[in-house]
Amino acid sequence: MGVAFASLLGSGAAAAAYGQTPNAGSHVGSQPVFRLDGGNTTYAFGVNERGELQQLYWGGRLGEHDVIDPAKSEDVLSGFDSSYNNTPQEYAGWGAELYLEPALKVTFADGNRDLVLHYASSSKHDDNSIDVVVKDISRAVIVTLHYNIDPESGIVARSATIENHEPNPIMIEQAAAAAFSLPAAHYTLSYLSGRWAGEWTLNEEAIHQGQRVLESRRGSTGVQLNPWFAIGKGNAGEEQGETWFGALAWSGSWRITVEQDSLDKVRVTGGFNPFDFGYLLEPGEKLESPVFYAGYTDHGMGGASRLLNRFTLTHILPQAPSPKLRPVIYNSWEATQWNVSEAVEGALAEKAAALGVDRFVMDDGWFGQRKSDHAGLGDWYVNKEKFPNGLKPLIDKVHSLNMDFGLWVEPEMVNPDSDLYRNHPDWVLNFPGRPRSEDRNQLVLNLARPDVRKYVFDAMDKLLTENDIAFLKWDYNRNWSEPGWDQLPANEQKKVYVEFTRNLYSILAELRAKHPGVEIESCSGGGGRVDLGILHYTDEVWPSDNTDPLDRLTQQDGFTHAYPVQTMAAWVTDSPHWLNSRTSLMTYRMLVSMQGVLGIGGNLNNWTNEDMAIARRLVAAYHQVQKTVTQGDLYRLISPTNGSEFSATETVSPDKSQAVFFAFVHSTQEGRSFPRSQLLGLDPKAIYALGSIEGKAAEGTPTEASGAWWMNHGIEVALQGDFQGAAFRLDRK
Ligand code: GLA
Repeated sequence: MGVAFASLLGSGAAAAAYGQTPNAGSHVGSQPVFRLDGGNTTYAFGVNERGELQQLYWGGRLGEHDVIDPAKSEDVLSGFDSSYNNTPQEYAGWGAELYLEPALKVTFADGNRDLVLHYASSSKHDDNSIDVVVKDISRAVIVTLHYNIDPESGIVARSATIENHEPNPIMIEQAAAAAFSLPAAHYTLSYLSGRWAGEWTLNEEAIHQGQRVLESRRGSTGVQLNPWFAIGKGNAGEEQGETWFGALAWSGSWRITVEQDSLDKVRVTGGFNPFDFGYLLEPGEKLESPVFYAGYTDHGMGGASRLLNRFTLTHILPQAPSPKLRPVIYNSWEATQWNVSEAVEGALAEKAAALGVDRFVMDDGWFGQRKSDHAGLGDWYVNKEKFPNGLKPLIDKVHSLNMDFGLWVEPEMVNPDSDLYRNHPDWVLNFPGRPRSEDRNQLVLNLARPDVRKYVFDAMDKLLTENDIAFLKWDYNRNWSEPGWDQLPANEQKKVYVEFTRNLYSILAELRAKHPGVEIESCSGGGGRVDLGILHYTDEVWPSDNTDPLDRLTQQDGFTHAYPVQTMAAWVTDSPHWLNSRTSLMTYRMLVSMQGVLGIGGNLNNWTNEDMAIARRLVAAYHQVQKTVTQGDLYRLISPTNGSEFSATETVSPDKSQAVFFAFVHSTQEGRSFPRSQLLGLDPKAIYALGSIEGKAAEGTPTEASGAWWMNHGIEVALQGDFQGAAFRLDRK
């Protein structure tokens, strides 16, 4: 690598650079064409006559021997329509005549801000991965664009490594992982937005000229917008039509820009959020972007989420490619809030065990002087008043009840009322001499600092070493404010946006390596830190503090567009619900949570014998179909959104031997019956036996029939009333 770059450093002539013979791809004359094929997708790009890297094709898979012509830049239309701007560049530097979103923007030490990247070389690792090096036309800024296509799903992983080989530092003001282009057409953009207790709202809107910005400026992923998008062409819908989708694997401030240019072409650019960004790169240093994953399907939104979610299961999650089934947990938060103690938790553990729960999780309140959210964060030692003999007696009891033990932590935060803050007030994000905004009475530790990173790692490592802990619920209950890092020179302080998140990832990776049995949940006051970056280090997420079953149906629908059910924790809690006073039946609550990773989070001390019996029966039923529900292919048959009276999902195991069907009615109107549901994804020739998990099929429904019957004729469910649910399994005979 070093030798190849060295030979380029002095080269000012673009032609000389792209005239080199690439190691990969075909090329006509001096214009290489690169092609990646995977699943039902082909992604092709090449070098145009000026030397820029330009996208050529992204869509359904092309024939093996089809020839893709070399890239040709867009014609100049007028003095206002530059070719550099309108050419669908793979990774455009801000320079020349670029007015669309740049992938990379830098300022050189001499004040020059013009950056024009031309092809330099490429190296192919195997049929699925290629690195392409682009370089500024005169300065030694070298960007390696990494491409990797997944042969099964056709999902392309793209990222960029930016290197400074100039004699002086450069300031990176904007750095994307990748830009993806689509030709001119009518498109619909889908994205997920929310707020605390109102996460996972699916939004759909026509793409028009101009920019639609999805972003977080908050230092973490955020609940307001999620780094995922889908773009449907024409009248693409849930199960049909061309759909492109992508997800950015980054848990810090991020931005995805969806931009339609004046020629109606669309460009999606994603990476670090350029807002307040500044990364000083010394000579010889490099900056790695996050990875931006993107894929294509002609099976609509359902096809898009099935591809992405299978990819996440098999390539992203820490236990990929074969994640273990998630244990059914009990969590005591809604039952006890901060009033935990050995006796209180022990009593709940006995009741949880009686339900068939696999894992008992103690939430907030067990450490430091933590009696409410006013104190204690940062002091990760056991509160002696609540646990005079440490955690061991409780953990032993939990084990004796055949469950493993999990614990809540919030390691990146500190309450001003804590020993940690009293000892290290300089450890928080802050601008010296300025106010420090508190949220939930807490401040954010500057995890970018090596000493803070060490403290957090050591505290968690000690907890896991001294106690038999199988699971951490890793919480993060506020956004950044006043994000200063005053130990560094002024022009380096904004590195906090990168180094904080990198240190978080490295702590999680190191803890997992040292304690291989430990599983981790990503929580941020609910679903505030859910993205493919954190999911590389955490096994599941807490989608929302809102556990109301009706609200959860909509949230679960939104969530599954971007993330797999395997990661979607779903607790059954109490009725009436604390958030909205809604009353619902235990069966309904159980069935809603059984659509995800089932957990129990209610106050078991108040559950009736009948509630306990229903929960016990359905926990057992869940265990029998969990693999299909959490790791199968999901079909959203009826969406609960837009005031729908009904909702229904079906999940099919990858080998099509089992399907699980959930049906819910929110409130029957005008005596309507539940619509007949034509199932999807079964083997038409196979015979499937219908079994009830809960509820009844309509009279006359066969007990067994072909896949063709269930898919063409469909299944009718006897379901009416308010907040009612039913669930069935179909097993291939
Ligand atoms: C956050 C989490 C909750 C709970 C509390 C504890 O709000 O989302 O599930 O753990 O913190 O303080």
